[in-house]
Parts: sequence; C-alpha cells; structure tokens
Amino acid sequence: MSSSFLAINFAYVISAGMFILGLKMLSSPATARRGNLISALGMLLAIVVTLFSQGLDYKWIVLGIVIGGTIGLIAAYKVEMTSMPEMVALFNGFGGIASMLLSWGEYHQNPQMSVFIGIVASLSAFIGGVTFSGSMIAFGKLSEKIPSKAILFNGQHLINGTILVVALLATVFFASHAESLYWVFVLIVIIALVFGVTSVIPIGGADMPVVISLLNSYSGLAACAAGFVISNNILIVAGALVGASGIILTRIMCKAMNRSLANVLFSGFGAKIQAGGDGPQGEIKPASAEDVYYILEAADSVAFVPGYGLAVAQAQHVTRELGDLLEQNGTEVMYAIHPVAGRMPGHMNVLLAEANVPYDQLVEMDDINPRMDSVDVCVVIGANDVVNPAALTDKNSSIYGMPIIEVHRAKTVIVLKRSMSPGFAGIQNALFFMENTRMYFGDAKASIQALIAEFKGGN
Ligand code: TAP
Repeated sequence: MSSSFLAINFAYVISAGMFILGLKMLSSPATARRGNLISALGMLLAIVVTLFSQGLDYKWIVLGIVIGGTIGLIAAYKVEMTSMPEMVALFNGFGGIASMLLSWGEYHQNPQMSVFIGIVASLSAFIGGVTFSGSMIAFGKLSEKIPSKAILFNGQHLINGTILVVALLATVFFASHAESLYWVFVLIVIIALVFGVTSVIPIGGADMPVVISLLNSYSGLAACAAGFVISNNILIVAGALVGASGIILTRIMCKAMNRSLANVLFSGFGAKIQAGGDGPQGEIKPASAEDVYYILEAADSVAFVPGYGLAVAQAQHVTRELGDLLEQNGTEVMYAIHPVAGRMPGHMNVLLAEANVPYDQLVEMDDINPRMDSVDVCVVIGANDVVNPAALTDKNSSIYGMPIIEVHRAKTVIVLKRSMSPGFAGIQNALFFMENTRMYFGDAKASIQALIAEFKGGN
C-alpha cells in the first residue's frame, strides 16, 4: 500500500467526520449555516486530495470544474428562495446522472467485472437513471413547465411494478456475465430513465417536495454504489450519508403530513383535490387593519404562525418589522413553526432567517401547543392546513391525524389571507368560523404593512 494511498484515505476520514458534524449542525437554525460551511469544506478537502490520485487526466477535470462551477455560481446567485425546491431537483438529477455515467464509463473501460462489482454498477446506473429522469419531471412540475397535477394513467401500478421486476432480473443477469452483456447494461439505463418518468408523473406537484427529498436519497444511494464500482471510500461514505439523511427527511415530512410514503407515491393526491373545497361553513367575523391593531396593541403575548401564503406574499420582512414594533410595545413575540408549513422542508425557517428573526423567538409546534391556552393572540399569516382543527376532530377529513399548531386554543386568532379559498389539502377550515377568530382579508404583505402604519400612526 503506497504512502499516498494512505494519506488520501486519511484525509477522507477527516472529510467524512466533517460531513457528519456538518449534518448534525444542520438540525438547528442557530448552527445550520456553520454546518453547511463545514460540510462544504469537507467536500473541498475530499476533492483536493482525490486530485492527487494517480493516472488522472487533469485537462478534462479542470474543464468540468470551470463549466460546472460557472453554471452553479450563476444559478446560486439568480435563484429565488421560492424556487429552491426546483434547484434542489436539478442538483439531485445531475448527481444521479453523474453516478450513472461513472459506472457506465468504468464498465466501458473495464468490462471484466466481478459479480459484486457487476451488481453495484448496474444498481448505480439504475438508481442514478431513475434519479435523473424523475428529478427532471419534478423540476418540470415545480417550475410549471409541465402540468403540475398528478397525471394518472391506466395500469400505472402494474406497469411500474413490471418495470421494477424487469430491472431486477436484468441486474442479476448482467452481473453474472458482465463482460459479454453490454446491451443489458444499456437496457438497464433505458429502463431506469423510463421508470423515473412513469413513477413521478402520477404524483401531484404539491407533493413534489417529498418526492425531491426521496430522489435526494436515491442520488446518495447511486453515488454510494458508484463508490464501490471505482473503489472510492469517500464516495461510498458521502453517498450513504446522503441516502440516509434523504430518507430520514422524507419520513419526517410524511409524518408531519400524517401520510405514509406509499400514499404520497401512489395515491395521486394532487389529482383528487377539489378547487372549491368542502368542509364546515358558517359565519365569519371580518376585521379591518384598525380592529386588528387594537387587538394586537392590547396583547401581552403574540404568536405569529406563518404558512405558504407568507412565502407567496414575501411578507417575512414586514412580519419581522411588526414583531419588533410589538416588542417595543412590551409584548412577548413568538414565531410558531409547523414542520410542513409552506412547500419545502424548513421553508418558514429559511424565510424568517432571511428577515433576521432572532432564533430564540422561533418556537416549534411541540413547544408552543402545550402553552397555547395562555397565548393572547395568534396571527396566522397565510397558513391554512397546518392550523385546521379538523385534523384533530374530524375523522372523515383528509388531514385527520396530521399534527397541527393548535391556534384555536389561543384567546384570539387573527387569520390573514386573501379569500376563503382552501389550502393545499383543498378543504375548508373550521378555524375561520370559530368564536375567537377574526378574518383579516388581503395580501399578507399589504395587510401587515397596514398594521405597521397603524402602529406608527398610533405612537
Ligand atoms: P396551505 O394550507 O397551502 O394554505 C396557504 C394559504 O395561504 C391559502 O389558504 C391561501 O389562501 C393563503 N395565501 C396564498 N397567498 C397568499 C397571500 N399572498 N397573502 C395571504 N395569504 C395567502 O399552507 P400551509 O398551512 O403552510 O400548509 C402547507 C400544506 O402544504 C400542508 O397541507 C402540507 O401538508 C403541504 N405540503 C407541505 C410540504 C412541506 S415540506 N412544507 C410539502 C408538500 C406538501 P388565499 O388564497 O385565500 O389567500
């Protein structure tokens, strides 16, 4: 074993440690930025030491770094925060195709593969191919370049099941005689690309964040398998970490929506949503900016509960400004975060961090609910499903069992939204008709600006 091989693998161990530390730090808003940086530095170290491996042709590597780095830099500067899920879909897709091409290239160069390497090469090609085409469909749906609704087709489960069985058989066949079965490898690649499309188009656009998280996990598994093909330890470790963290995130999202992964993947949820929404009806109590100002002005504690509408209205900065004014007024201010508020994991955390909301004012659902009875006012900003009490009480509701922020238990609830339209789940919200709820209609940003004007005028 050469000393450079040992040195490279020693550096890989340090990189792996940095990845794990970085991932751990991502779990809290206070340390997430530093965690991201540490993981990125770990990757930089891994890349730099890999460049010391023997037999590399640097001109292609430099060309790849320059082209890829330039595109990545421009994209990172230009992308809007609300388009982040699309961007992640593209990243996953390119990760998947990179693993697929790596295995293909290795096989092309050296078709004499052992059974084990044959299996991991075909797995990497299959999972990488599915990740690529599935992510492209996810990107298309989220950016509305293709219809975002769930597109169901006849015999969908049978076709997808058959494709999976054929892929499995092809993998076993290929691995047994890899050197003479080039066409089977190509067949596996084609099947994978088709399966990525047929398995993702039946999923509704609004379920895409869950699918993207799953595809992220796939991209990690493909990279892990590719790592075995080229005997690269850090690729195996990094791929396994991405694979595991992606599946954990997918599970957290499903749990917070009270849906099984199978329900997200196979039920065609988006196709069934009704535009008008059903559920409870009754009298609502509209409120003006002035009414809401008087309620807030007299409150000892206020909890903002942001949702998807806050992202649509880009109301994070004005919300923070209103929070500051309330604090100056002697009010305790909190921001209650539901794990699946918005349309992507951490959506609300990212928006509130952008507005520099202090981390110690962020309260998780499980921490605010036990003290909800003592909260004077909950201001629901463009949230709907995540505060719908039907999730607790109505066994027939499609969101029954989903944990919610129990704003209806606060003394007063102010709901900011533009109309009585339902949210993602397509159902009306009993909260809007409750005795302690006031509806403050309008675009969230304009509504909060009007409140700020009231506060400034009132002082
Ligand atoms: P939703 O239930 O989707 O409700 C959003 C509300 O925002 C709508 O009722 C809408 O009412 C209002 N709104 C839209 N634009 C607005 C604007 N400019 N100003 C004011 N209000 C506006 O949102 P939520 O409560 O955040 O729940 C998220 C939903 O998405 C859940 O059902 C969850 O399961 C699902 N989901 C989440 C994720 C992740 S990871 N976050 C992933 C997939 C699915 P108007 O049209 O009347 O204004």
